[in-house]
Amino acid sequence: MNGLSVDHLTGIKNVTKEDIELIFKTADSFKEVINRPIKKVPSLRDITIANIFFENSTRTRLSFELAEKRLSADVVNFSASSSSVKKGETLVDTVNNILSMKVDMVVMRHPNPGAAEFLAKRVDAKIVNAGDGTHEHPTQALLDAYSIREQLGTLEGKKVAIVGDILHSRVALSNIYCLQKLGAEVMVCGPTTLIPKFISTLGVKVSHNLREALEWCDVANMLRIQLERQETKYFPSLREYAMQFGLNKEILDSLSKKIIIMHPGPINRGVEITSDVADSEQSIILQQVENGVAVRMAVIYLLAAKINRK
Ligand code: CP
Repeated sequence: MNGLSVDHLTGIKNVTKEDIELIFKTADSFKEVINRPIKKVPSLRDITIANIFFENSTRTRLSFELAEKRLSADVVNFSASSSSVKKGETLVDTVNNILSMKVDMVVMRHPNPGAAEFLAKRVDAKIVNAGDGTHEHPTQALLDAYSIREQLGTLEGKKVAIVGDILHSRVALSNIYCLQKLGAEVMVCGPTTLIPKFISTLGVKVSHNLREALEWCDVANMLRIQLERQETKYFPSLREYAMQFGLNKEILDSLSKKIIIMHPGPINRGVEITSDVADSEQSIILQQVENGVAVRMAVIYLLAAKINRK
């Protein structure tokens, strides 16, 4: 296979298994690069990338910026909170103004589901979705699957439980698409109110019992309760949520096998996961963050190969 089958990365739903495998193979080379004393390659010296973030971010934003700089791209950063968006400028006007400064690729986080797809159809640049509302977070799913592959050798036949606020989670949806394309089985687990009714149509198992999910899986991906996206109450209190669905060391140590613990961050310590689990040797949370840079380098590099460089 020569390159990606897509011109933009707006979601995992529309990429193929071969695309994902190509991204992983490319990320393997970049992981080697970023572990060298000189962590940089000149591959994208002629490319300019704008990171435009309409929502808060720590990991994704820094990880994309580092990935771009390690590929030697020129980088500009845009934060909606300090921009003319506050004066009523539309998304397309904002991005077209940025593009008229000769930008080739836009990495965007936006609160509206479908925002990346909307932009990809309207502007002349490669678009990478860095999270669109409750819809998709494709590079998070890629780095999660890449991290599992690194630990277990393959995703084929592995069992992954995604636990927590599935209803509001773009990480859950992108993970489901990605894991299934790579041959893994997926179970979602959480309170009935935080599991969307459509989820079983995606071919995932559903459980409302944390112990059952943990006994079933090889890997547990613990998600944050997204209070900022919740307009109504979905459970009595965070304390009760933690008692029923929070992962603590006592439960982890009582399981019949050793499982891998993941979390996309940011962590609410003491709610979905206790500190002794997050910091345990079974946790690969910081490896996920490290792999994020290599995986994002791969995505940017492969999409840049599709730019018509005159
Ligand atoms: N995992 C993730 O998307 O984290 P940020 O919101 O900090 O980017």
